Amino acid sequence: MALTKFATRNLILLSVLILSGAGSIGARFTSGYSQCGKGKSTLKAVSMLFRHGDRTPTLAYPLDPYRDYPWPGGFEALSEKGAQQLHTSGIIKSARYSSLFSTNCDLAATHTVDLDKILVFSSSAQRCVDTVTNFLNGFIKVEWPSSLINVIPLDQDEMLAVPGKPCPKHESIIRTGPSLDDPDFKKIIDFESPEGKELLAYLEKNTGMPVFSSTVLHYLEDTLSIQKSNNLELPAWSEAVYEPYLKPFALVVFKAWASSYYMEFRSSILLRNITNIFDNVIAGSADPNILLYSAHDATIGGMLYFFGVWDQVPGVPAYASSLNLELHENAEIDDDYEVKLVYFPSYNGENPIEIKIPNCQAPCPYKQFKWNFQPRLTPNYDSVCST
Ligand SMILES: *[C@@H]1O[C@H](CO)[C@@H](O)[C@H](O)[C@H]1NC(C)=O
Repeated sequence: MALTKFATRNLILLSVLILSGAGSIGARFTSGYSQCGKGKSTLKAVSMLFRHGDRTPTLAYPLDPYRDYPWPGGFEALSEKGAQQLHTSGIIKSARYSSLFSTNCDLAATHTVDLDKILVFSSSAQRCVDTVTNFLNGFIKVEWPSSLINVIPLDQDEMLAVPGKPCPKHESIIRTGPSLDDPDFKKIIDFESPEGKELLAYLEKNTGMPVFSSTVLHYLEDTLSIQKSNNLELPAWSEAVYEPYLKPFALVVFKAWASSYYMEFRSSILLRNITNIFDNVIAGSADPNILLYSAHDATIGGMLYFFGVWDQVPGVPAYASSLNLELHENAEIDDDYEVKLVYFPSYNGENPIEIKIPNCQAPCPYKQFKWNFQPRLTPNYDSVCST
């Protein structure tokens, strides 16, 4: 679908918004290490891919009654609530994973942490950097240098930001979403039918924004849902369309993003990044064995589709949810480790969903896991993206 001049301008505005962001949220909290030293852990390494916490809207639409609402930090910023979600998540994950970085559990108060064991990558979106900052404040008790966070510049980002490093050949699905005549929209309403046309006209009239692509519907739903969760009364016109149409439309757009070829090869690059480091840990190097990736809902959604496990999770990844790959010692497996894929659907749950890895019976041996995905690993971002 061709972009209008208006659309292009808005996309540029969007990218500017993505690149700019809130100042860092530096609040420090106290934390506890309830599990430290309790029993022997089988854990060898872990990677955690998480979504940023609660945020402010991406945009205001032209006729938005809250167009000038003073969102703290501006658009697309991690909110105070989001900062606390990540801090809580950090405390919870430290209880599960502290055996990996704590060399001394005798005195919880003087807990020693080997920062060399932790490798952190963040999408360049400021809310993701703020997210992992708050996570780390809950996860480790000691002071840590800001250089611990490796922010991947957007124009080099092959794994986390969506879209990231330019890939004109495949990234248009992210910018435009699926076409409005996609069969999944037709299950909700046919945009070619009189009712469908009426609905689009209704939305355009009330928002002042042309629906030039399905991403517009996604951002509209997103903005309304965030306003609602901030106790802002939604405009009367939205009542008739929000639940029955905008919410299911947003899900269609999200699934199209997450299941796209674009996300497929980026997920494969992320998986290889993780397994390369796991391989080094297994080979006995002193490489970090706690990998943190601070990213977006679509990054997690892409991985869930890549692994073929989307059906095992409760829908679009919530704020501060995380998808973790754990490497465990297991006496049942000769000369190899067990891989577990676990999903924390919320920031505060202690017991993750244990995901069944397709074609790998639990306990899933790490080598078999890698072997299964080997054929789908993309050799090189640039070669896939070159036109
Ligand atoms: C993982 O990805 C980061 C960011 O692109 C890169 O700097 C690093 O070299 C990669 N590591 C491995 C082992 O692939």
